[in-house]
Amino acid sequence: IGSIDDVQAMLAELGISDPLPKFDAASVTTNPIDIFRSYVAEEMSKITGVNRELLYPALEWTQNMEKGDLILAVPRLRIKGDPKALAAEWVKQFPENKYVLPPVAANQFIQFFFNPTLLAQLTIPSILSKAGKYGANHSGAGKKALIEFSSVNIAKPFHAGHLRSTIIGAFLSNVYEFCDWEVVRMNYLGDWGKQFGLLAVEYEASGSEEKLNEDPIQHLFDIYVKANNRVKEEEAQVKDGVALEGESMNDKARAYFKKMEDGDPKALELWERFRELSIVKCEKVYGRLNIKFDIYSGESQVSPDTMAMASKIMEEKGISEDSEGAKIVDFPKHGYKKLGKAIIQKKDGTTLYLTRDIGAAIERHEKYQFDQMIYVVSTQQDLHLDQLFTILKLMGMDFVSKCVHVNFGLVHGMKTRTGEVVFLDSILDEVGEAMHEVMKKNQDKYQQVENPDEVADTIGKSAIMIQDMTGKRINNYPFDIKRMTSFEGDTGPYLQYAHARLCSILRKANIPMPLIHTADLTLITEPQAILLLRTLAQFPDVITNTLKTLEPTTIVNYLFKMTQLLSSSYEVVKVVGSEENVARARMALFESARTVLSNAMKLLGLTPVER
Ligand code: ARG
Repeated sequence: IGSIDDVQAMLAELGISDPLPKFDAASVTTNPIDIFRSYVAEEMSKITGVNRELLYPALEWTQNMEKGDLILAVPRLRIKGDPKALAAEWVKQFPENKYVLPPVAANQFIQFFFNPTLLAQLTIPSILSKAGKYGANHSGAGKKALIEFSSVNIAKPFHAGHLRSTIIGAFLSNVYEFCDWEVVRMNYLGDWGKQFGLLAVEYEASGSEEKLNEDPIQHLFDIYVKANNRVKEEEAQVKDGVALEGESMNDKARAYFKKMEDGDPKALELWERFRELSIVKCEKVYGRLNIKFDIYSGESQVSPDTMAMASKIMEEKGISEDSEGAKIVDFPKHGYKKLGKAIIQKKDGTTLYLTRDIGAAIERHEKYQFDQMIYVVSTQQDLHLDQLFTILKLMGMDFVSKCVHVNFGLVHGMKTRTGEVVFLDSILDEVGEAMHEVMKKNQDKYQQVENPDEVADTIGKSAIMIQDMTGKRINNYPFDIKRMTSFEGDTGPYLQYAHARLCSILRKANIPMPLIHTADLTLITEPQAILLLRTLAQFPDVITNTLKTLEPTTIVNYLFKMTQLLSSSYEVVKVVGSEENVARARMALFESARTVLSNAMKLLGLTPVER
């Protein structure tokens, strides 16, 4: 079903020879619902006199199947008269046809229900033939998205904010790629700043070559803790009036970082090693989540020349000003009352987080010429990104209109048994083990799993991810291992269970795939089956909607609705034991459900299990 002609041929085979009306916004080859939408929009345009291209987008999909498959809010058409009366009048004029049942006027709405047989005949073959691509559209063709996510800090603890950024960023990358965007996945490491001076000074004093090679992230973190404790001790000493012996830790760190910023090769050598070892370790852990970054960039990679150039523009345009030897931007002066003041250059000439982000954005635009750039960063940095985007705008960098901040709330209580989360590794291990314990509780099923450790690890990862993606991004949530590893309720394990159960039906029914693909779909008649079918048909619209909301929950919520329908249909829509032709048709429906579930799970970053 690659072209509109294919769709037309398919309709002809089903006894519809009238040419399908064409709409700019329709994507009939990727979205079966758009076939119905095109027909209904054309007829409604004739009836109402409203421009057809305006009518088309007014036909919205519904969250609640009882309200129809498509719904038209009459007031949206801005036609004089009582919307209720118009709705009642128009449904009477709607012609008899093969696409939809007679429309229903409900108050000021008109509800359209698809003809279930035609829906089955258009949707199921589309799902089965498109398989892994069902749900996708081509909206990103020829376009490039740079997605920056995870962006961990070397030598600092990995925190929940990084976990969320990793999960949401990987998800967005998958969805964009699914819809034909060229995606650049970028990890913008926190690998620059005074803390590296601190780290180097402490490493030279008490670090161990051996430990660094063994587990760089752990060792650097230990050094980091040590260094910070030393700073605190010194501060306490000074407070008590005790003189320090020699230079303070902070002064040494500052001097070291200054050397780094000045490009001193010796100072840079150590830092370079820290960075490289950390990246190697990061790659392994991201690999456990099937995430691969195209680029490990970082704060250190921003060129001083770019920052100097940016600084010059800011000065010339009167965006920045001097303040006690430092350079600042006083946002209220430029009409941005809520953004306060921000330092962009310290007294000693060194740069800051914000300065580096300004340079990084400019360089990324030059290098990648993106159509969209997404920053997946916690709401705690709303102000920072707002300041960044505003500075770029004031500088006249038009590409700022292509930049998006995808933010998210906090996770409470993400700790491992030992308390400190140093890296993602430890969280994945711990949830995997908890998952394994839960699985053991059902010995019957547990015995059937060939590689329980691996499956527990996979389902454990699903547990973490789905817990993270169930609510809206902006919401905070508690990290609750017991709840997330449950097979009941809206959890990752529940989705995995639903997938495994569909695989099991397929195995037990043992019907060869070609017979499933050629099943007589008019035999799908039970209300539960039709409800499921109508939900499966919505998947391409769910994807389109996700590209608008940039919310994983748009898909997760849909999946929970779909899998609940699934589980209530098993009792009635039996495959095993049914008459052969009926069994084949039902299997086609369930295999379609499995495809949708699997596609959606993969977009979310999950690996669907078969048992
Ligand atoms: N490394 C930062 C942190 O952990 C996040 C970086 C976000 N991205 C950016 N371009 N500022 O807080």
